[in-house]
Amino acid sequence: MRKVLMSNQAINVGVIGTGGMGGRHVNNLTHEVAAAQVVAVMDVDEARLRTVAAACGARHTFTDGHALISHPDVEAVLIAAPDRFHADLARACIAAGKPVLCEKPLATTAAEAYNVVAAEVAGGRRLVQVGFMREYDPAHCQVKRMIDSGALGKALAFSGTHINASSDPARTVEDVISNSAVHDIHSARWMMGDEIATVYTSYVPSDPRRPETARMVLIQLTYSGGAIGQIECNAEAGYGYEVDVKMTGERGVVQTNSLRSAVVRLANQQSQWVEEDWLQRFDEAYIDEVRAWVHSLQQGAPTGPSAWDGYVSMVVSDACIASAKRGQPVAVEIPEMPGIYQRG
Ligand SMILES: NC(=O)c1ccc[n+]([C@@H]2O[C@H](COP(=O)([O-])OP(=O)(O)OC[C@H]3O[C@@H](n4cnc5c(N)ncnc54)[C@H](O)[C@@H]3O)[C@@H](O)[C@H]2O)c1
Repeated sequence: MRKVLMSNQAINVGVIGTGGMGGRHVNNLTHEVAAAQVVAVMDVDEARLRTVAAACGARHTFTDGHALISHPDVEAVLIAAPDRFHADLARACIAAGKPVLCEKPLATTAAEAYNVVAAEVAGGRRLVQVGFMREYDPAHCQVKRMIDSGALGKALAFSGTHINASSDPARTVEDVISNSAVHDIHSARWMMGDEIATVYTSYVPSDPRRPETARMVLIQLTYSGGAIGQIECNAEAGYGYEVDVKMTGERGVVQTNSLRSAVVRLANQQSQWVEEDWLQRFDEAYIDEVRAWVHSLQQGAPTGPSAWDGYVSMVVSDACIASAKRGQPVAVEIPEMPGIYQRG
Protein backbone atom coordinates (compact mmCIF):
# COMPACT_ATOMS: atom_id res chain seq x y z
CA MET A 1 0.00 0.00 0.00
CA ARG A 2 1.37 3.44 -0.94
CA LYS A 3 1.89 5.51 2.21
CA VAL A 4 0.00 8.79 2.51
CA LEU A 5 2.38 9.97 5.24
CA MET A 6 5.97 8.72 5.26
CA SER A 7 6.45 8.94 9.00
CA ASN A 8 6.27 7.03 12.25
CA GLN A 9 6.44 10.37 14.09
CA ALA A 10 3.30 11.90 15.66
CA ILE A 11 1.03 13.13 12.89
CA ASN A 12 0.37 16.89 12.82
CA VAL A 13 -3.37 17.40 12.53
CA GLY A 14 -5.31 20.56 11.69
CA VAL A 15 -8.94 20.73 12.86
CA ILE A 16 -11.54 22.83 11.02
CA GLY A 17 -14.55 23.76 13.19
CA THR A 18 -14.13 23.72 16.96
CA GLY A 19 -17.74 23.51 18.16
CA GLY A 20 -19.30 20.56 20.00
CA MET A 21 -17.93 17.85 17.72
CA GLY A 22 -14.68 19.58 16.67
CA GLY A 23 -13.93 20.43 20.30
CA ARG A 24 -14.38 16.77 21.27
CA HIS A 25 -12.11 15.60 18.43
CA VAL A 26 -9.43 18.14 19.42
CA ASN A 27 -9.61 16.92 23.00
CA ASN A 28 -9.44 13.26 21.99
CA LEU A 29 -6.55 13.81 19.55
CA THR A 30 -4.65 15.75 22.24
CA HIS A 31 -5.24 13.47 25.23
CA GLU A 32 -6.14 10.03 23.85
CA VAL A 33 -3.96 9.58 20.75
CA ALA A 34 -0.23 9.52 21.47
CA ALA A 35 0.54 9.30 17.74
CA ALA A 36 -1.09 12.65 16.91
CA GLN A 37 -0.88 16.29 17.87
CA VAL A 38 -3.21 19.14 16.98
CA VAL A 39 -0.97 21.83 15.48
CA ALA A 40 -3.64 24.06 13.92
CA VAL A 41 -7.28 24.93 14.51
CA MET A 42 -9.74 26.96 12.45
CA ASP A 43 -13.09 28.54 13.31
CA VAL A 44 -14.99 31.66 12.32
CA ASP A 45 -15.87 32.14 15.99
CA GLU A 46 -12.61 33.74 17.16
CA ALA A 47 -13.35 33.53 20.89
CA ARG A 48 -13.96 29.77 20.65
CA LEU A 49 -10.91 29.41 18.40
CA ARG A 50 -8.66 31.04 20.99
CA THR A 51 -10.07 28.94 23.84
CA VAL A 52 -9.64 25.66 21.96
CA ALA A 53 -6.17 26.59 20.67
CA ALA A 54 -5.01 27.44 24.21
CA ALA A 55 -6.42 24.19 25.61
CA CYS A 56 -4.69 21.95 23.04
CA GLY A 57 -1.54 24.01 22.52
CA ALA A 58 -2.08 24.46 18.75
CA ARG A 59 0.69 26.57 17.17
CA HIS A 60 -1.51 28.03 14.43
CA THR A 61 -5.01 29.50 14.37
CA PHE A 62 -6.99 30.33 11.24
CA THR A 63 -10.35 31.85 10.37
CA ASP A 64 -10.16 30.39 6.84
CA GLY A 65 -10.33 26.62 6.30
CA HIS A 66 -8.37 26.68 3.04
CA ALA A 67 -5.47 28.50 4.73
CA LEU A 68 -5.28 25.72 7.35
CA ILE A 69 -5.35 23.00 4.69
CA SER A 70 -2.50 24.53 2.70
CA HIS A 71 -0.24 25.27 5.70
CA PRO A 72 2.94 23.17 5.46
CA ASP A 73 2.86 22.18 9.16
CA VAL A 74 -0.54 20.48 8.70
CA GLU A 75 -0.12 16.84 7.57
CA ALA A 76 -3.71 15.64 8.03
CA VAL A 77 -7.04 17.43 8.45
CA LEU A 78 -10.17 16.80 10.49
CA ILE A 79 -13.28 18.64 9.25
CA ALA A 80 -15.97 19.37 11.87
CA ALA A 81 -17.42 22.53 10.29
CA PRO A 82 -21.17 22.73 9.53
CA ASP A 83 -22.41 20.24 6.90
CA ARG A 84 -22.64 22.71 4.00
CA PHE A 85 -18.84 23.28 4.02
CA HIS A 86 -17.75 19.62 4.06
CA ALA A 87 -17.55 18.77 0.35
CA ASP A 88 -15.60 21.88 -0.65
CA LEU A 89 -13.10 21.46 2.22
CA ALA A 90 -12.69 17.72 1.55
CA ARG A 91 -11.89 18.45 -2.10
CA ALA A 92 -9.32 21.04 -1.02
CA CYS A 93 -7.65 18.36 1.15
CA ILE A 94 -7.55 15.97 -1.82
CA ALA A 95 -6.07 18.70 -4.03
CA ALA A 96 -3.38 19.31 -1.36
CA GLY A 97 -2.71 15.53 -1.11
CA LYS A 98 -3.57 15.54 2.62
CA PRO A 99 -5.61 12.80 4.32
CA VAL A 100 -8.85 14.02 5.89
CA LEU A 101 -11.35 12.72 8.42
CA CYS A 102 -14.52 14.53 7.39
CA GLU A 103 -17.48 14.55 9.77
CA LYS A 104 -20.70 13.16 8.36
CA PRO A 105 -22.39 13.93 6.05
CA LEU A 106 -19.72 14.10 3.33
CA ALA A 107 -21.97 16.66 1.59
CA THR A 108 -25.57 17.79 1.74
CA THR A 109 -26.51 16.17 -1.61
CA ALA A 110 -25.35 13.13 -3.58
CA ALA A 111 -24.20 15.35 -6.46
CA GLU A 112 -21.83 17.28 -4.17
CA ALA A 113 -20.59 14.07 -2.56
CA TYR A 114 -19.88 12.60 -6.00
CA ASN A 115 -17.55 15.53 -6.75
CA VAL A 116 -15.44 14.45 -3.75
CA VAL A 117 -15.39 10.83 -4.97
CA ALA A 118 -14.47 11.95 -8.50
CA ALA A 119 -11.57 14.07 -7.19
CA GLU A 120 -10.28 11.19 -5.06
CA VAL A 121 -10.59 8.65 -7.90
CA ALA A 122 -8.75 11.05 -10.24
CA GLY A 123 -5.88 11.12 -7.69
CA GLY A 124 -5.84 7.30 -7.67
CA ARG A 125 -5.65 6.79 -3.88
CA ARG A 126 -7.82 6.99 -0.79
CA LEU A 127 -7.36 10.13 1.31
CA VAL A 128 -10.86 10.59 2.78
CA GLN A 129 -12.50 8.94 5.77
CA VAL A 130 -16.07 9.92 6.73
CA GLY A 131 -17.10 10.24 10.39
CA PHE A 132 -19.56 7.34 10.59
CA MET A 133 -18.31 6.58 14.09
CA ARG A 134 -20.80 3.83 14.83
CA GLU A 135 -18.29 1.52 13.11
CA TYR A 136 -16.16 2.11 16.23
CA ASP A 137 -18.91 1.70 18.87
CA PRO A 138 -18.20 -1.51 20.82
CA ALA A 139 -21.86 -2.64 20.85
CA HIS A 140 -22.33 -1.98 17.12
CA CYS A 141 -19.09 -3.89 16.42
CA GLN A 142 -20.38 -6.84 18.44
CA VAL A 143 -23.60 -6.93 16.38
CA LYS A 144 -21.59 -6.74 13.15
CA ARG A 145 -19.20 -9.53 14.22
CA MET A 146 -22.13 -11.74 15.26
CA ILE A 147 -24.01 -11.28 11.99
CA ASP A 148 -20.83 -11.74 9.91
CA SER A 149 -19.97 -14.94 11.82
CA GLY A 150 -23.00 -16.61 10.26
CA ALA A 151 -24.14 -17.98 13.65
CA LEU A 152 -27.57 -16.38 13.19
CA GLY A 153 -27.89 -17.63 9.62
CA LYS A 154 -28.62 -15.32 6.71
CA ALA A 155 -29.51 -11.74 7.73
CA LEU A 156 -33.18 -11.06 6.99
CA ALA A 157 -33.86 -7.63 8.45
CA PHE A 158 -32.18 -4.46 9.79
CA SER A 159 -33.84 -2.15 12.27
CA GLY A 160 -32.31 1.17 13.43
CA THR A 161 -33.62 3.59 16.06
CA HIS A 162 -32.22 7.12 16.38
CA ILE A 163 -33.73 9.29 19.11
CA ASN A 164 -32.73 12.93 19.73
CA ALA A 165 -34.03 14.75 22.80
CA SER A 166 -35.01 18.07 21.24
CA SER A 167 -34.65 20.46 18.36
CA ASP A 168 -35.07 24.21 18.44
CA PRO A 169 -35.92 25.57 15.91
CA ALA A 170 -37.90 22.83 14.15
CA ARG A 171 -35.81 20.96 11.56
CA THR A 172 -36.68 20.44 7.90
CA VAL A 173 -37.32 16.93 6.64
CA GLU A 174 -34.19 17.33 4.46
CA ASP A 175 -32.07 18.12 7.52
CA VAL A 176 -33.43 15.29 9.68
CA ILE A 177 -32.66 12.81 6.87
CA SER A 178 -29.36 14.17 5.48
CA ASN A 179 -27.88 15.15 8.88
CA SER A 180 -29.30 12.57 11.33
CA ALA A 181 -30.78 9.58 9.48
CA VAL A 182 -27.65 9.47 7.28
CA HIS A 183 -25.92 7.73 10.22
CA ASP A 184 -28.63 5.05 10.21
CA ILE A 185 -28.49 4.76 6.42
CA HIS A 186 -24.77 4.02 6.72
CA SER A 187 -25.40 1.51 9.53
CA ALA A 188 -28.07 -0.17 7.39
CA ARG A 189 -25.55 -0.71 4.55
CA TRP A 190 -22.63 -1.63 6.83
CA MET A 191 -24.54 -4.10 8.99
CA MET A 192 -26.22 -5.90 6.09
CA GLY A 193 -23.17 -5.81 3.80
CA ASP A 194 -25.61 -5.11 0.99
CA GLU A 195 -26.95 -2.09 -0.89
CA ILE A 196 -30.35 -0.51 -0.33
CA ALA A 197 -32.62 -0.97 -3.37
CA THR A 198 -35.75 1.01 -2.44
CA VAL A 199 -36.83 3.43 0.30
CA TYR A 200 -40.27 4.54 1.44
CA THR A 201 -40.29 7.51 3.84
CA SER A 202 -43.19 8.73 5.98
CA TYR A 203 -42.92 11.58 8.48
CA VAL A 204 -44.79 13.68 11.00
CA PRO A 205 -44.16 17.44 10.66
CA SER A 206 -42.80 19.24 13.69
CA ASP A 207 -45.36 21.98 13.06
CA PRO A 208 -48.58 20.72 11.41
CA ARG A 209 -48.88 24.06 9.56
CA ARG A 210 -45.38 23.64 8.08
CA PRO A 211 -45.15 20.37 6.09
CA GLU A 212 -41.48 21.09 5.28
CA THR A 213 -40.60 20.39 8.96
CA ALA A 214 -40.18 16.92 10.50
CA ARG A 215 -39.98 15.55 14.03
CA MET A 216 -40.61 11.86 13.37
CA VAL A 217 -39.33 10.06 10.26
CA LEU A 218 -39.88 6.40 9.39
CA ILE A 219 -37.97 4.88 6.47
CA GLN A 220 -38.78 1.41 5.15
CA LEU A 221 -36.01 -0.28 3.15
CA THR A 222 -35.56 -3.14 0.77
CA TYR A 223 -32.09 -4.48 -0.07
CA SER A 224 -30.72 -5.76 -3.39
CA GLY A 225 -30.30 -9.24 -1.91
CA GLY A 226 -33.93 -9.53 -0.71
CA ALA A 227 -33.61 -8.47 2.96
CA ILE A 228 -35.77 -5.68 4.41
CA GLY A 229 -35.21 -2.92 6.97
CA GLN A 230 -36.52 0.13 8.76
CA ILE A 231 -35.12 3.31 10.29
CA GLU A 232 -36.98 5.27 12.96
CA CYS A 233 -35.59 8.77 13.46
CA ASN A 234 -37.18 10.89 16.17
CA ALA A 235 -35.80 14.45 16.22
CA GLU A 236 -37.82 15.64 19.23
CA ALA A 237 -38.29 12.74 21.63
CA GLY A 238 -38.26 15.03 24.65
CA TYR A 239 -36.61 12.61 27.07
CA GLY A 240 -32.99 11.89 26.01
CA TYR A 241 -30.75 10.36 23.34
CA GLU A 242 -30.74 6.75 22.18
CA VAL A 243 -29.31 4.91 19.18
CA ASP A 244 -29.83 1.19 18.68
CA VAL A 245 -29.63 -1.42 15.94
CA LYS A 246 -31.21 -4.84 15.66
CA MET A 247 -30.34 -7.51 13.11
CA THR A 248 -32.68 -10.42 12.56
CA GLY A 249 -31.18 -13.59 11.12
CA GLU A 250 -32.71 -16.93 10.16
CA ARG A 251 -31.90 -18.44 13.57
CA GLY A 252 -31.72 -15.52 15.98
CA VAL A 253 -31.61 -11.81 16.71
CA VAL A 254 -28.72 -9.58 17.85
CA GLN A 255 -29.24 -6.04 19.08
CA THR A 256 -27.61 -3.21 21.00
CA ASN A 257 -29.00 -1.65 24.17
CA SER A 258 -28.37 2.09 24.58
CA LEU A 259 -29.18 1.96 28.26
CA ARG A 260 -25.68 1.28 29.53
CA SER A 261 -26.12 2.43 33.14
CA ALA A 262 -26.95 0.39 36.23
CA VAL A 263 -30.58 -0.49 36.87
CA VAL A 264 -31.93 1.16 40.03
CA ARG A 265 -34.94 -0.16 41.95
CA LEU A 266 -36.23 2.29 44.52
CA ALA A 267 -39.58 3.20 46.06
CA ASN A 268 -41.54 0.71 43.94
CA GLN A 269 -39.86 2.01 40.76
CA GLN A 270 -37.19 0.61 38.45
CA SER A 271 -35.13 3.16 36.51
CA GLN A 272 -32.07 3.62 34.28
CA TRP A 273 -30.22 6.76 33.18
CA VAL A 274 -30.92 7.76 29.55
CA GLU A 275 -27.96 9.60 28.02
CA GLU A 276 -28.33 13.23 26.96
CA ASP A 277 -26.67 13.28 23.57
CA TRP A 278 -24.24 11.67 21.12
CA LEU A 279 -21.19 12.96 22.99
CA GLN A 280 -22.20 10.77 25.96
CA ARG A 281 -23.56 7.79 24.02
CA PHE A 282 -20.59 7.53 21.62
CA ASP A 283 -17.79 8.75 23.91
CA GLU A 284 -15.68 5.61 23.38
CA ALA A 285 -16.49 5.42 19.66
CA TYR A 286 -15.15 8.94 19.02
CA ILE A 287 -11.86 8.05 20.74
CA ASP A 288 -11.49 4.75 18.88
CA GLU A 289 -12.39 6.46 15.60
CA VAL A 290 -9.56 9.03 15.76
CA ARG A 291 -7.11 6.43 17.13
CA ALA A 292 -7.90 4.08 14.25
CA TRP A 293 -7.72 6.93 11.72
CA VAL A 294 -4.27 8.08 12.91
CA HIS A 295 -3.04 4.48 13.04
CA SER A 296 -4.30 3.84 9.49
CA LEU A 297 -2.42 6.91 8.23
CA GLN A 298 0.76 5.63 9.84
CA GLN A 299 0.18 2.29 8.11
CA GLY A 300 -0.42 3.87 4.71
CA ALA A 301 -3.96 5.18 4.09
CA PRO A 302 -7.36 5.54 5.73
CA THR A 303 -9.26 2.25 6.06
CA GLY A 304 -12.50 3.37 7.79
CA PRO A 305 -15.75 4.54 6.12
CA SER A 306 -14.76 5.99 2.75
CA ALA A 307 -15.84 8.84 0.50
CA TRP A 308 -17.72 6.16 -1.44
CA ASP A 309 -19.66 5.28 1.73
CA GLY A 310 -20.28 8.99 2.24
CA TYR A 311 -21.51 9.30 -1.35
CA VAL A 312 -23.78 6.23 -1.33
CA SER A 313 -25.33 7.31 1.98
CA MET A 314 -26.21 10.61 0.28
CA VAL A 315 -27.70 8.81 -2.75
CA VAL A 316 -29.95 6.94 -0.31
CA SER A 317 -30.60 10.14 1.68
CA ASP A 318 -31.68 11.98 -1.51
CA ALA A 319 -34.01 9.05 -2.36
CA CYS A 320 -35.49 9.16 1.18
CA ILE A 321 -36.15 12.91 0.82
CA ALA A 322 -37.76 12.41 -2.61
CA SER A 323 -39.92 9.62 -1.17
CA ALA A 324 -41.01 11.82 1.77
CA LYS A 325 -42.06 14.55 -0.65
CA ARG A 326 -43.85 12.25 -3.13
CA GLY A 327 -45.39 9.94 -0.52
CA GLN A 328 -44.26 6.97 -2.61
CA PRO A 329 -41.46 4.37 -2.57
CA VAL A 330 -38.36 5.47 -4.53
CA ALA A 331 -35.75 3.23 -6.18
CA VAL A 332 -32.09 3.82 -5.25
CA GLU A 333 -29.68 3.88 -8.20
CA ILE A 334 -26.04 3.31 -7.20
CA PRO A 335 -23.29 3.37 -9.85
CA GLU A 336 -20.49 0.80 -9.88
CA MET A 337 -17.97 1.27 -7.07
CA PRO A 338 -14.51 2.45 -8.26
CA GLY A 339 -11.68 0.02 -7.49
CA ILE A 340 -9.89 2.25 -4.97
CA TYR A 341 -12.77 1.67 -2.53
CA GLN A 342 -12.51 -2.13 -2.30
CA ARG A 343 -12.17 -2.89 1.44
CA GLY A 344 -9.80 -5.46 2.87
N1 LIG B 1 -20.40 11.98 14.05
C1 LIG B 1 -21.29 12.45 14.88
O1 LIG B 1 -21.82 11.74 15.71
C2 LIG B 1 -21.64 13.91 14.86
C3 LIG B 1 -22.32 14.46 15.95
C4 LIG B 1 -22.59 15.82 15.92
C5 LIG B 1 -22.24 16.58 14.82
N2 LIG B 1 -21.62 15.99 13.78
C6 LIG B 1 -21.22 16.78 12.61
O2 LIG B 1 -20.12 17.60 12.99
C7 LIG B 1 -20.20 18.88 12.36
C8 LIG B 1 -20.17 19.96 13.42
O3 LIG B 1 -21.28 19.80 14.26
P1 LIG B 1 -21.27 20.39 15.75
O4 LIG B 1 -22.32 19.65 16.50
O5 LIG B 1 -19.90 20.45 16.28
O6 LIG B 1 -21.80 21.88 15.47
P2 LIG B 1 -21.48 23.18 16.31
O7 LIG B 1 -22.48 24.18 15.89
O8 LIG B 1 -21.37 22.85 17.76
O9 LIG B 1 -20.03 23.62 15.82
C9 LIG B 1 -19.79 24.06 14.51
C10 LIG B 1 -18.56 24.94 14.55
O10 LIG B 1 -18.22 25.30 13.22
C11 LIG B 1 -17.92 26.69 13.20
N3 LIG B 1 -18.10 27.23 11.86
C12 LIG B 1 -19.09 27.98 11.35
N4 LIG B 1 -18.83 28.29 10.07
C13 LIG B 1 -17.64 27.71 9.78
C14 LIG B 1 -16.84 27.65 8.62
N5 LIG B 1 -17.20 28.28 7.49
N6 LIG B 1 -15.68 26.96 8.67
C15 LIG B 1 -15.30 26.34 9.80
N7 LIG B 1 -16.03 26.35 10.94
C16 LIG B 1 -17.17 27.05 10.91
C17 LIG B 1 -18.84 27.30 14.24
O11 LIG B 1 -18.37 28.58 14.67
C18 LIG B 1 -18.78 26.25 15.33
O12 LIG B 1 -17.71 26.45 16.21
C19 LIG B 1 -21.50 18.86 11.54
O13 LIG B 1 -21.19 18.57 10.22
C20 LIG B 1 -22.31 17.74 12.15
O14 LIG B 1 -23.18 17.11 11.22
C21 LIG B 1 -21.29 14.68 13.79
